[in-house]
Formats: sequence, C-alpha cells, structure tokens
Amino acid sequence: MSTTSRCRICDGTVTEFIDLGRQPLSDAFVVPGDEKKEFFFRLATGICESCTMVQLMEEVPRDLMFHEAYPYHSSGSSVMRTHFQELAKRLLTTELTGEDPFIVELGCNDGIMLKAVAEAGVRQLGVEPSGGVADLAAAKGIRVRKDFFEEATAADIRENDGPADVIYAANTLCHIPYMDSILKGVTTLLRPNGVFVFEDPYLGDIVERTSFDQIYDEHFFFFTARSVQEMARRNGLELVDVERIPVHGGEVRYTLALAGARKPSSAVAELLAWEAERKLAEYATLERFATNVKKIKEDLIALLTKLRAEGKRVVGYGATAKSATVTNFCGITPDLVEFISDTTPAKQGRLSPGQHIPVREYQAFAGDHPDYALLFAWNHADEIMNAEQAFRDAGGQWIRYVPNVHVS
Ligand code: SAM
Ligand code: TMP
Ligand code: ZN
Repeated sequence: MSTTSRCRICDGTVTEFIDLGRQPLSDAFVVPGDEKKEFFFRLATGICESCTMVQLMEEVPRDLMFHEAYPYHSSGSSVMRTHFQELAKRLLTTELTGEDPFIVELGCNDGIMLKAVAEAGVRQLGVEPSGGVADLAAAKGIRVRKDFFEEATAADIRENDGPADVIYAANTLCHIPYMDSILKGVTTLLRPNGVFVFEDPYLGDIVERTSFDQIYDEHFFFFTARSVQEMARRNGLELVDVERIPVHGGEVRYTLALAGARKPSSAVAELLAWEAERKLAEYATLERFATNVKKIKEDLIALLTKLRAEGKRVVGYGATAKSATVTNFCGITPDLVEFISDTTPAKQGRLSPGQHIPVREYQAFAGDHPDYALLFAWNHADEIMNAEQAFRDAGGQWIRYVPNVHVS
C-alpha cells in the first residue's frame, strides 16, 4: 500500500515515491558531546495527484531550522556573489525605475543580493528570521526585519512602507510549507503591476541529474512550471515568466504577477511543453528517479569501501545541507570519510548531522591533501575545481555522485 499525505497547496492526495529514511536536520552541526540531542524525522517525498506539486511527506517545525545560529552564509561562494549582483543590477534597471521604488526580499540571509540595492540607494527591506545572518546583512547597511515572512508580516510591511514593486526570494520559497499564507502576503504587499520573483532548485534538473541530495528538511517543495502555475492561479496570481538558471545544480527563476496584470512570456509555454514531453508530473518518472537513487547509493558505498580497504584517504569537500542526505541515506561513516572540509566558521569544529563526521577548516584539506575528495558541494564544482589545481597536481582525485558515481 502506498503512503500518502495532504498537499500543502491544494489539499489533494500526495503519494510517496521515495523514502530517504530517518534523517537529522541538515544544517544542525553537532557540538561534540551533544550527539544524543539530535532531532530526527522521516525524509520522504511524494507528488500531489491533483496539482502535481512535489513535496516532503513530513514537515519539520520552522524554528528548529531557522534560528539565531542558522549556519548557512550565502556569501561563501564567489559565483553566487556575482549571480546575485547581476540579478540586482537587472532589477534596478527594469522593475525598480519608478518614483521611489521599493523591493522586499524574503530570506535575504547575509545580504548577498540586497547589498547592491542598498548601495544604489533604492529602498529595500530584507525579511530574515535567522538572527545571525540577519545581523550580517544589517552590518552591510541593509534594512532588515528579523521575522518569518507570512501574511501578517506582509500586511504590517505594507502599512509601514507602502506597496512593493518587487518581492524577491532565492532558495527560500521552496523552504516554506505554509504557502497559502505566503501568497496571501504577496498579493497584499505587491503594487498592482509589481512582480514576485523567486528562484529555487528545479525538479526537471533534479530528475535529469538524479540529484537526490536536493531533498532535505529545508527543501519542502520541488517546483515545476506546471505546479507553480497552478499554485499561482489558486491565489489570484499568474506565472508570467520563467528562466532556467545554472546555479545550485539547476534552478528556475519564476516571475508571478497579479492575475491579468502582465502578459505571460513565450518561455512559460515552452517550459510547460518541455515538462509535459519529459512526463515530469508522472508517477512512473519519479519511480524511475527513485531507482536511480538506489543505484547511486550502492555504487558510492562500494567505492568508498574499496578505497578504505586499499588504505586510501578520502575527505569530504563542503559540509553542505545536501551532504546530510547523502551521508545518512548511504550510511557514510567517519571510517569511510575522514573529515569534511568547509570554509564556514560556524560549521568548523562540529560534527556532521547524523553520521558525526568531523567538519574541519579548509586548511586541514589544503595543508595535507588526501588521495580522494568527495565533492559534496558539487553545485559549486567549477569554482572549486578551478581553485584546487594544487590538489589535482598532487595526484588527488575527485569523487562525484551526480548524475552517477564517478572518479575524475
Ligand atoms: N537567499 C539566500 C540565498 O539564496 O543564498 C539564502 C537562502 S537560505 C538557503 C534560506 C533562507 O530563508 C534562510 O536564511 C532562512 O532563515 C530564510 N527563511 C526561512 N523561512 C523564511 C520565511 N518564512 N520568511 C523569510 N525568510 C525565511
Ligand atoms: P551550498 O551548496 O548550500 O551553497 O553550500 C556550500 C557549502 O560548501 C558551504 O558550507 C560552504 C562550503 N564551501 C567550501 O567549503 N568551499 C568552497 O569553495 C565553496 C564554494 C563552498
Ligand atoms: Zn496539490
């Protein structure tokens, strides 16, 4: 019998297609000695039979994930800094050109995007519940409200600051199960001809690349043009543009407007047709994805076990949230991966969630190159491989597991 839950968009039946087992919070790096205090939940995803939205079967309370010590700092990647500067520049020259324009960003994190907006002197507000990163954004001169965005927050912002020309969210909307409240908030806050722009990992890329590690506690929804169009429609909004973008392993940037306010671009129909052709919304496609995931697990464990038997040193590169899914689903223990190198101070000296692999500063990797580096931050592969020529020159090899397990 298949497992089901209720859809967070339309209350339809969500049927499970993959179970990644008992998992910890992906960004809860453990202080040594606190191993027994970890929170676990069942990580599984399903597809809604009515609106086709792919989503987690179980929801993790938001305060457990987003709090004062949330360790993810957006500005850790130079590619992402450039990505967001370019987006800011584009918005400043298109949507934010009227009289005293105003932009609100949900999940501004350390201010990676709004910094350029603040520097241009355009009115802005970042809504960011995670206190530590919100402080970093404020230190950059950005106006920040330490809060979860939802309907009541939106009404309050509208009252104090007036309507927004742009509401923007990167890698944040897919983190929020209470979508009804968010979209009500968006329609309250948006100027009649304003836009709601958001970018998140794309189910089309996840299925094509078997990037199953995009599934973790914080990623509640896995959007497609079709499911976003339906979600928008139900809330008085309309999908008017889509753009595939290469960051974070493949994302789509969606633009919504109030229904009827803007004419949808041809890109919307094109992406909808592409999705239909790939049968993205069909259960059988997602079952095939689940089969491919199991193969990656077997191959990766076989490779790591062989390398251990040969006495090779394997170190993880990038203690990503994604790596929690990989290590816990595959059963990668510290005897297979010695430590994980990560440049984020808040992760260093701690243990990876669930499997308790030590996370160490970058120097631990660069100062004593291992035989193999398991690239958990594969979404930053170009940036990392360019920077790590010395590792390669020393005979080091990369292990990757997306779209399949391979050594290069
Ligand atoms: N936008 C940044 C980027 O793309 O790098 C940060 C993405 S980070 C993965 C997700 C952020 O969303 C976190 O900083 C978290 O605190 C924030 N967040 C979670 N729920 C939120 C909500 N309801 N309203 C606003 N921000 C939220
Ligand atoms: P992300 O995949 O969610 O962006 O997380 C990337 C993680 O990898 C983050 O903890 C920072 C870390 N990282 C490095 O350690 N070195 C690097 O060169 C890059 C780009 C990221
Ligand atoms: Zn649904």
